[in-house]
Amino acid sequence: MKEESNANRLEPGHCGIVKLRKVGIIGLGHVGAHVLCDLVNQGIADEIVLIDIDREKAECEAMDINASMAYMPSRIKVYAGTYGDIGDADVLVNASGKISLSAASNDRTNEMRYTVAAAREIAPQVRASGFKGIFLNISNPCDVITSYMARELGLPKGRVFGTGTGLDTARLLFRLSHDSGVDARSITAYMFGEHGNAQFAPLSLVSFRGKPLAEMAKTNSKLNYSQDDISKAVIQDAWTVVSAKHCTEYGIAATAARMIKIVLGDERSIMPVSAMLEGEYGESGVFAGVPCLLGAGGVEEVCELPLTKAEWEMFHQCCESIRNNIALAEEM
Ligand SMILES: NC(=O)c1ccc[n+]([C@@H]2O[C@H](COP(=O)([O-])OP(=O)(O)OC[C@H]3O[C@@H](n4cnc5c(N)ncnc54)[C@H](O)[C@@H]3O)[C@@H](O)[C@H]2O)c1
Repeated sequence: MKEESNANRLEPGHCGIVKLRKVGIIGLGHVGAHVLCDLVNQGIADEIVLIDIDREKAECEAMDINASMAYMPSRIKVYAGTYGDIGDADVLVNASGKISLSAASNDRTNEMRYTVAAAREIAPQVRASGFKGIFLNISNPCDVITSYMARELGLPKGRVFGTGTGLDTARLLFRLSHDSGVDARSITAYMFGEHGNAQFAPLSLVSFRGKPLAEMAKTNSKLNYSQDDISKAVIQDAWTVVSAKHCTEYGIAATAARMIKIVLGDERSIMPVSAMLEGEYGESGVFAGVPCLLGAGGVEEVCELPLTKAEWEMFHQCCESIRNNIALAEEM
């Protein structure tokens, strides 16, 4: 069949009958490539544009994933593109960076000089493209780069957010699931604060479909965690993975893909993301990882949950750390 034989065939995004879902991914390293893979595997988008400073890499990622399409649940158009292709995208993902810079030091702020420079290069091009969708930042330090992008893109409130403590929360859920024998999807728990070393698990919020952690711990001593120990263990999980494989990729890709699916399906699900706080938890003017209601508008609501006094204070310390890193980024 000739490809363009049907003169009535409308281009993706303009058919007017079916709304096609278009996603752009900037940075096709370990993370960007795995986000791509999850989007295709789960049939989350209909069209995916790949952008990388290494154009050949973007082209080869497209070629490689296209070689999987015959066995995927749906046909998805994937190609290497430019910023000229993403003006009408629904979601744009920033996964640019240089992971070797943070992997060597177990500190995401060491990658900051590179990712801030990348963000300064990317933001004006996204703006010039006319992009008006949801911008999901993954690049580290996640809260700092998200904050910069939100300011530079000037999109309506909620449309720029970061994966934040979404990945760390998945790590926490895995630990809780392992120790309790309960499926992670039946557990409510969050990491709060910085996607970095200044984050913690407010244990007062942990529940097993309504049964508090403290109740569960009465019959299972493995669940007798101290907040400090479990928080440190979750933070360390990232560096344990990095020590051997020099990056993390599956967890963050699943986290980002889930967030994109929520947005594109207007699911209105609650997930922890890096969101702008405007009075919630007594904080203002800072992006930090907190549970949020996500939907087609991005962050539609920051969910303010009841923290204990000690957890409240801990959260302020985390926000201070993020503020310090934002100030550092400004000086670069
Ligand atoms: N938020 C999280 O939970 C989380 C988890 C894992 C990794 N990360 C971060 O994600 C980022 C990517 O990680 P990775 O392992 O894929 O890194 P990587 O070094 O493997 O790949 C980065 C990619 O970005 C591209 N790139 C660099 N500058 C660019 C620019 N200006 N424009 C377009 N593309 C550019 C590079 O060419 C490369 O392909 C890093 O900042 C990393 O720290 C975040």
